Amino acid sequence: MNIFEQRESNIRAYCRVYPVIFETAINARQTDDQGKEYIDFFAGAGVLNFGHNNPRMKAAMIAYLQSNGVTHSLDMHTTAKREFMETFVTTILEPRGMSHKMQFMGPTGSNAVEAALKLARRATGRLHIAAFSHGFHGMTLGALACTANQYFRGAAGVPLEHVTHLPLGSEKKGADSGLAALAQLRENYLDPSSGIERPAAFLVETIQAEGGVNIADRSWLQALAGLAKEIGALLIIDDIQVGCGRTGSYFSFDDLDIDPDIICLAKGVGGMGTPLALNLVKPEYDKLWSPGEHTGTFRGQNLSFVAGKEALSYFENDALMQTVNAHAQTMNNALAPLAQQFADIDVRGKGMIIGLDVGSGERAKQIVNTCFEKGLLIASCGTGGRVVKLIPPLTIPAADLQEGLDILVATTQHVMEAV
Ligand SMILES: Cc1ncc(COP(=O)(O)O)c(C=O)c1O
Repeated sequence: MNIFEQRESNIRAYCRVYPVIFETAINARQTDDQGKEYIDFFAGAGVLNFGHNNPRMKAAMIAYLQSNGVTHSLDMHTTAKREFMETFVTTILEPRGMSHKMQFMGPTGSNAVEAALKLARRATGRLHIAAFSHGFHGMTLGALACTANQYFRGAAGVPLEHVTHLPLGSEKKGADSGLAALAQLRENYLDPSSGIERPAAFLVETIQAEGGVNIADRSWLQALAGLAKEIGALLIIDDIQVGCGRTGSYFSFDDLDIDPDIICLAKGVGGMGTPLALNLVKPEYDKLWSPGEHTGTFRGQNLSFVAGKEALSYFENDALMQTVNAHAQTMNNALAPLAQQFADIDVRGKGMIIGLDVGSGERAKQIVNTCFEKGLLIASCGTGGRVVKLIPPLTIPAADLQEGLDILVATTQHVMEAV
């Protein structure tokens, strides 16, 4: 028995899917301690948008450490933080005319969501949050209350209250059904005798990543944004997994013509697995915080600021986003024939997040396990784990992308034909 089996908590999970010991990693490849290489279509659950050991980030962090740059500073001012913030403002916020403030918290997505919920409740004086079926927002109690998945909710040990889950108006279901449901909801909110309370906020992912790569319909999202405004609720976009370039532009909602009050970012924003989370908050809401009210020891780690600033340099021109669009095309071209060949398969996605819905968790598991044996890291998500999710680093070389797709397509064909 190795140290992990002997001593690591039973809660360990991904290491059971990939039961090897990884030693090194570069861009979209990881190598285990026996020298076997794997192509990475998992990218740390959407953290490593810019690849493992990104050379620009690595060099910047080494230089920072060698210059005795401050590594830990709570939320004190440092040069690393100043440079990250200035770059974020000039590269991301100003070009979009966004006046949002940047709130740093503990470096997890869950923590960003917690902060957003607190502020929405304060801003409105309301208790309830409207979240969505199949949404995933994290594991701490407030965020978990917004997460829909029963397996995770069951671990809470206390009632998860004050959140209502509504159906997502997804592209797959079509605009009409989503818009009809919203119209009904609007009627209820506006009717003082409906008994249905207006929420403090709508918390929504534009693409539900863990929930099965469910893409929110554009007109539904716009109607939701309009409804939020009309009833005085905040619109919180959780862009933790699908932001930072994943869909072909910095924010997943850049082309959706909505204006969120709070945007939650984490995962990729810190660069290369160097943890960082932040909320972008409209100033009129941000001013409702008092100093230190949502505190945390690791609010903005300087190495994450250094690597995160390098990540922003990818958005100074459109070279990476053009690559994302080209890679997305390659991915769709490879997977679309599967949907034609097998009635049970659905392929959906935007940019470089693509879901291969194979109709059953058992099949998806076989695909994930066989891909692993053949040297491809990929994971499943969605109800019962039936959707194989492709989220490779955006910087993956074209040859690695093709090699990984070839493994996935051949494996899927084999598994589908066997059942
Ligand atoms: C959309 C979304 N929100 C929140 C979270 C929670 O982030 P973390 O695991 O860093 O707490 C995740 C994690 O997968 C996520 O995908």
